[in-house]
Amino acid sequence: MRDVDERTITDAVIRAMADGGDERLRSVLAALVRHLHDFAREVELTPAEWMAAIGFLTRTGHKSSDTRQEFILLSDTLGLSSLVDLIAGRGGEAATEASNLGPFYIEGAPMLPVGGDLIRGNEGQPGVVRGRVLDEAGKPVAGVTLDIWQNAANGFYSNEDPDQDDMNLRCRMVTGADGAYAFTTIRPTPYTVPYDGPVGEMLRATGRHAWRPAHLHFRLAADGFADLVTEIFPEDDRYVDEDAVFGVRRSLAVPFPPADKATAARWKLSPPCFDLVYDFRLRRA
Ligand code: BEZ
Ligand code: FE
Repeated sequence: MRDVDERTITDAVIRAMADGGDERLRSVLAALVRHLHDFAREVELTPAEWMAAIGFLTRTGHKSSDTRQEFILLSDTLGLSSLVDLIAGRGGEAATEASNLGPFYIEGAPMLPVGGDLIRGNEGQPGVVRGRVLDEAGKPVAGVTLDIWQNAANGFYSNEDPDQDDMNLRCRMVTGADGAYAFTTIRPTPYTVPYDGPVGEMLRATGRHAWRPAHLHFRLAADGFADLVTEIFPEDDRYVDEDAVFGVRRSLAVPFPPADKATAARWKLSPPCFDLVYDFRLRRA
């Protein structure tokens, strides 16, 4: 390996890992090395730039903790998390598209019956969110656990805000034989992803903002079906076409239309209130 030059170094690294070990890992790492070397050659990466990148990644690691995942945020803001979801969704076009889990999910949210109320003391525009969970052929799926979470009118999730109850605006609900789910809630609000760390530095340095359009988070799980993690966005949100983490899909950006009088009365909502109807479709496992 003495004849290493700017071209041959790529094969030298790949050859060094050619034997033993896990085959998939080796082929993924070989592709990574090829792309990384091509990238360095293309931009003619300087030693100072390489050192700056190492410093950035080191700060990203130091910023990460049990409650702050700066590396996932980096992946999100570079579009990699969404790209991985899109690749995993290949061939499942009849199913609901996946989107970011994000860092604000908490396990063990309280159970709410179908048709229950999440609003309680929260300010904001009230509404009802309802629909069915179907399979790819359009048949209702019973026994699906929906985990639902969203932010409050001040933009914060309960686990970011000491003024909210721990489980504010979070619930789980299980579908019955008709596959229906429903709950009353408030309209979520746009908010910024955390930008007080290295990812914030990167956003500022590249002239980007940290805003996400408003959204409701859902995680659906049922025996015999692939888990679905996704988000629903009001299509008229001002950030819907410039999500800092690239989580919006055309099929997930929908109207939050005003509720008609009968619906508002049925759900004990005072106008102005919205009536969001959305059916999820699960993919067989
Ligand atoms: C969220 O929607 O909760 C989220 C997703 C990615 C990064 C930050 C927040
Ligand atoms: Fe979110």
